[in-house]
Amino acid sequence: MNMNMASSLENSPFLQACRRERAAHTPVWLMRQAGRYMHEYRELRARYSMMDMITTPELAAEVTLQPIEAFDLDAAIIFADILPPLVGMGLNLDFVPGIGPLLDNPISTIYDIERLSTPPAEQTILRYTLTAIRLASEELTSRGIPLIGFAGAPFTLASYAIEGRGSKTYAKTKSLMMREPEAWGRLMKKLVTVQADYLLKQVEAGASALQVFDSWAGAALSQADYLRYVRPYNVELFRTLQQANVPIINFSAGTAAYIDDVAACGGDVIGVDWRMPLDWFWTRIGEEKAIQGNLDPIALMAPWPELRARIDDVLNRANGRPGHIFNLGHGILPTTPRDHVKRLVDYVHEQTNHRQPTGDSES
Ligand code: CP3
Repeated sequence: MNMNMASSLENSPFLQACRRERAAHTPVWLMRQAGRYMHEYRELRARYSMMDMITTPELAAEVTLQPIEAFDLDAAIIFADILPPLVGMGLNLDFVPGIGPLLDNPISTIYDIERLSTPPAEQTILRYTLTAIRLASEELTSRGIPLIGFAGAPFTLASYAIEGRGSKTYAKTKSLMMREPEAWGRLMKKLVTVQADYLLKQVEAGASALQVFDSWAGAALSQADYLRYVRPYNVELFRTLQQANVPIINFSAGTAAYIDDVAACGGDVIGVDWRMPLDWFWTRIGEEKAIQGNLDPIALMAPWPELRARIDDVLNRANGRPGHIFNLGHGILPTTPRDHVKRLVDYVHEQTNHRQPTGDSES
């Protein structure tokens, strides 16, 4: 990488917004931006399984670039999933059509937890993702586009390790937590070890920023349980990640009621869902943090005038303040019309070109 390429990456609107610097326009990327709503993705997926795509670096890098070729996005996210770290720990992962991810040997006892390994990423299937990051970041750097690495937060990963699949009630996870708080602590510490190592190695491999997905904490936990059973481990994870010297995005969903506690765990950018307005979130997390969000993913299905009004609402609530990264409040859905993604990205850029803050920010 030459110096010019490095500086155009550092001065990209996405990294500037992460640092709360004024950018040429509000940067935009979309969670799950590589996926089934794109025909290019579906064509590859028809030939390869999800696991094959994740563990073949050339394929993962290609899929990472698909949305970058198709839209004027300000950041790429490496194509992978949050669950493969569990494979290195000893769990069997498969992606089953119509069901989603499935682990056929989930953990349920303290003995299972003691048996979980914590190998470094390069000794597990995560090494393929690290190689994919090297391939994709080389290509993206030459285009001035930062690559985001990611991993699941300990609670969200623990929920899959215990339930074996997605859950509505998180009954097994919360029962273990309440019944055996010490075993829970052991599990969460092991997950912090594995995830911190994996995330730091993603930066060594070429990721310019990291996002930690705590997707299910809010759906499962009261504020009191979040503070007791999640916060200490998230604090430890974010504290360890600081040594990477790249922006860290702390994303969760369903946590509006205690978003200040979520933000206090760490991260330079707080990723928020669509359940409350952007300015409501920003007031609570504090202006010293950048914010990412928060269009309802279903709004992309609405007719353009309605979609545009909802984009305007997010932008008006951000009010041109430096430190806003436009995104959805959660992942893009497979039924999203592709042409709305293009219109969204172009519209955010048009509307925010050199925009200055105006008047009062609270509305
Ligand atoms: O954002 C991106 O484009 C990067 C790739 C990415 C995937 N999964 C690819 C994927 C990312 C960042 C994830 C994260 C992920 N995976 C999360 C956290 C994000 C969130 O939504 O809150 C979670 C909970 C998972 C676990 C997971 N993986 C589920 C529940 C599913 C099934 C749901 C579904 O959409 O089918 C997956 C599969 C998955 N991960 C797909 C993709 C593109 C679909 C696989 C397919 O092609 O069939």
